[in-house]
Amino acid sequence: MSNQLLAGKRGIIFGALDENSIAWKVALKAHEQGAKFVLSNAPVALRLGEINKLAEQCSTVVIPADATSVEDLEKLITQSVEHLGGKLDFILHSIGMSPNVRKGKAYTDINYEWFQKTLDISSLSLHKLLQTCMKQDAISEWGSVVALTYIAAQRAFPGYGDMADAKATLESIVRSFGYYYGNAKKVRVNSVSQSPTATTAGSGIKGFDSFFGFADKTSPLGNAPAEDCANYCVTLFSDLTRYVTMQNLFHDGGFSKMGINELVVNEFTKK
Ligand SMILES: NC(=O)c1ccc[n+]([C@@H]2O[C@H](COP(=O)([O-])OP(=O)(O)OC[C@H]3O[C@@H](n4cnc5c(N)ncnc54)[C@H](O)[C@@H]3O)[C@@H](O)[C@H]2O)c1
Repeated sequence: MSNQLLAGKRGIIFGALDENSIAWKVALKAHEQGAKFVLSNAPVALRLGEINKLAEQCSTVVIPADATSVEDLEKLITQSVEHLGGKLDFILHSIGMSPNVRKGKAYTDINYEWFQKTLDISSLSLHKLLQTCMKQDAISEWGSVVALTYIAAQRAFPGYGDMADAKATLESIVRSFGYYYGNAKKVRVNSVSQSPTATTAGSGIKGFDSFFGFADKTSPLGNAPAEDCANYCVTLFSDLTRYVTMQNLFHDGGFSKMGINELVVNEFTKK
């Protein structure tokens, strides 16, 4: 059902790789809610061609940009504002990749060049994006930028590797840039900390099934599906959340507030 929550709003959605991607679901929901937006992803990801199907469904275009390249971002933002016919009201940063995780490097035997890549792709890209938008004054007042993150920024999850450090940095950029952008232009910046979700990025984590199963069993509501994450992102893009900024918001069925649950109690109760 559409309430046209995003009618008249313009945006950019980064990170739709295939139909499992969280960004894919956000694009469908934003379209359903009346938004107009441009889709973007790294040129290498576009070669798969899947994103063109999404663009067709959302009656929009795809503009490639490597989110680590300021030059690419400058072009993307200029072209998006031109294509959409005005400043942006929302941006989804749904970007993450770690060469160390992908190649199975242990956290205690890390490749530092790859670590820098992890940080550049998964964290600094948000700073580059926000800085470029600010310089071009490309986001309208009360505009909303949302980045996706994971609870490994706050707690230890073996297997998540250097992505944990990248997410901690990402969340810090959300807070710091949120301050400056809010002060200067009333632009909001938040991160959504999502449950484990079966996507290309998610399933690349060693032991993903255990992460997924443990969180699902521990959370009173169970793991939050990608589609519900998309609904939450839509509320954050909308005018119903105008005074929410600089926050890391958990969308995880309650997992982040859990200590122990009955399953664990039963396991450790002396029989
Ligand atoms: N899947 C999960 O369990 C989970 C949980 C919490 C948070 N997240 C976060 O959600 C976001 C989206 O991931 P997803 O799970 O939908 O997986 P995904 O693999 O579908 O999306 C990751 C996207 O990042 C893009 N990307 C990588 N390098 C890029 C670059 N240099 N420039 C531009 N784009 C680039 C990829 O092409 C891909 O579209 C990520 O930030 C991820 O860390 C995922």
